[in-house]
Amino acid sequence: MATIDPWGAELQADYEKIVKQFGLEQFDPALFPQPNRLMRRGIVFAARDQKVIADCIKRKKPYYALTGIMPSGDKLHFGNKMVVDQMRYFQEHGAKTFVLVADLEAAATRGVTLEMARKRALDFHIPAYIALGLDPKKTIFYFQSENKDVLHLAYEAAQHITLNEFRAVYGAADPSRIMAAVTQVGDILFPQLAERMPGVIPVGIDQDPHIRVARDVVARTRKEHDFIPPAAVYHKFTPSLMGDIKMSKSQPTGNIDLPEDTKDVCKKIMRAVSGGRKTIEEQRKLGAEVEKDMVFELLKMHLIDDDKELTKIYNEYKGGKMLTSELKQIACEKMTAFMDDFTAKLEKARAKLDALTFITFR
Ligand code: TRP
Repeated sequence: MATIDPWGAELQADYEKIVKQFGLEQFDPALFPQPNRLMRRGIVFAARDQKVIADCIKRKKPYYALTGIMPSGDKLHFGNKMVVDQMRYFQEHGAKTFVLVADLEAAATRGVTLEMARKRALDFHIPAYIALGLDPKKTIFYFQSENKDVLHLAYEAAQHITLNEFRAVYGAADPSRIMAAVTQVGDILFPQLAERMPGVIPVGIDQDPHIRVARDVVARTRKEHDFIPPAAVYHKFTPSLMGDIKMSKSQPTGNIDLPEDTKDVCKKIMRAVSGGRKTIEEQRKLGAEVEKDMVFELLKMHLIDDDKELTKIYNEYKGGKMLTSELKQIACEKMTAFMDDFTAKLEKARAKLDALTFITFR
């Protein structure tokens, strides 16, 4: 099977540099049974302790997958979607699944009150995660502010990190960030209080500092806890439709929210940076520079699961048989179907909130 990796040369080099610089492992999809789209296509590109997790999956040993929801905005982005895709993979492959609402972090670092954070999480973020494919029956939820064990772990973690280390890892060290970071260490290790088992945290590459700190804390509390260091898998950013390395709200023409009006999204797709040639004649003759095409990226990362279907598009576009307008039309149709499906599932999930399992301490 052809490997499709249309990252521009520069971006590719950046990600390779990160792997070396942070001492990460290159992610190896061959270690994992039925690797998902992101794993197969090099979008999940790095890891820590991936073999430990792969081994748990193959031998059906207990392990967990955990992620946090940041209820600061009232939309999701494609980075969130990738995390859920990964969580879903692990959930479908035996992981005990934990999803926490980072309400304390949102309050400390984004000026969102705990009440607002709670309301948003229940009205939108949790149903959205379910709409994206998490099984609500198999997922354990909690709010940071309601989980005493997490807070105790956070206080303990704080004793094992120095200010200088904090600065080195995060670049800054204002008190609210310190609070948020130690709380996140508490989150990451919390499932192991009940049961020593490996855990995997799927994250965007920018979240690696948290993983490193959590692993340091594990090494330094060996006597007290003997926790297993958390494993992690790292995914690349979804590039902006304008060709920047990451979609961002600050540049709306390149950004797509979840959900977003499909007419608007299609307009943005039509104006996206393309690898197609200037004229139809040139396109027919030379074919597209697929590695520069942000719409193809979108198809590859988010909209087409079937490798055969994607490879066919890749070959036709690269070979000049397919025009940019045709590629964009496909993306627009797929995106519309995806958004419609997401909105419908969101409504369904909202109606069934009382069936969820929350951890609370009263
Ligand atoms: N800091 C994360 C964010 O900004 C949210 C978060 C809190 C989290 N605790 C976590 C993520 C534990 C992964 C694991 O999105």
